[in-house]
Amino acid sequence: MKNIKKMKLYRHPERIYNELNAIGYKDGAPLKAADISPFDQYHYFGTDAIDDAISSLSIDSKKKIMDIGSGIGGPARYMAGKTGCHVTALEIQPDLHDIGSSLTERCGLSGSVRHLCGDILDFSEKERDFDIIVSWLSFLHIPDRCALLKKCYTILKLGGKIFIEDFYKRGEFDKKETKILSEDIYCAYLPTLSEYKKQLADGGFVNFKLTDKTDRWKDFVKERLEKFIKSRGRYIKLYGIDTVKDLEDFYEKMSWLFAGNKLGGLRIMAEKGDLSRIGGN
Ligand SMILES: C[S@@+](CC[C@H](N)C(=O)[O-])C[C@H]1O[C@@H](n2cnc3c(N)ncnc32)[C@H](O)[C@@H]1O
Repeated sequence: MKNIKKMKLYRHPERIYNELNAIGYKDGAPLKAADISPFDQYHYFGTDAIDDAISSLSIDSKKKIMDIGSGIGGPARYMAGKTGCHVTALEIQPDLHDIGSSLTERCGLSGSVRHLCGDILDFSEKERDFDIIVSWLSFLHIPDRCALLKKCYTILKLGGKIFIEDFYKRGEFDKKETKILSEDIYCAYLPTLSEYKKQLADGGFVNFKLTDKTDRWKDFVKERLEKFIKSRGRYIKLYGIDTVKDLEDFYEKMSWLFAGNKLGGLRIMAEKGDLSRIGGN
């Protein structure tokens, strides 16, 4: 975990406070969830991607949800605010976790979003009553997929569902791509599409649907970089030069990786099957 800050996206999470000040919020003031969502989503296509999860999983106030790798809590707050569901927002980086908890409190959502700081692989297996697990761009940081899927299987109710957005390997990465992925994106391992399907099946998941997002994500990261460069002056004033250099470097590397056509993007939906019926755990 100590090297995760090599991924420069994670170095200055407090920049959200600069954005909130710029739209007129004083430090610590109550927040409207709609005002904060342009700045608190660390994945692609912002709240549109969360709306897709809400509609395809029929998320409503009765659902108990685990959000693995919740960042500063954007997806968790958006789901809870929009549907009244209960979300456990689990985040491994303490600074992101602290910012997430404080933003949730300021949005008046502490009753429906529980923030926990920790590694999903260490999450208590006593809690086994989640209806849904969601995760946006976090699995790519966790090389032990067997342990990760086993944990997901264990904490979900039978028939419970997963909704994951993740990277996958479309072609053999060269040395430079491998180095950037492992050092700058904190991504030491990615499965191919067929390996992903096998891992899901071996992990006890059924009825899975995998949607290829590569082209849309490739365009998204390219446009994100272009927009950022266009507004560089504004960002320097708002965040300071060090943060701008770090973000630009990260956005450039993501765009370069997708342009190489070996990095792919996937949305995975699947259901927990009954492993005991086929002799598993
Ligand atoms: C790209 S960010 C996405 C954050 C959030 N899902 C969002 O979309 O706004 C991935 C997050 O996963 C977290 N993460 C990585 N490994 C984790 C682990 N083993 N357990 C919990 N969180 C983890 C990272 O610290 C990071 O905040």
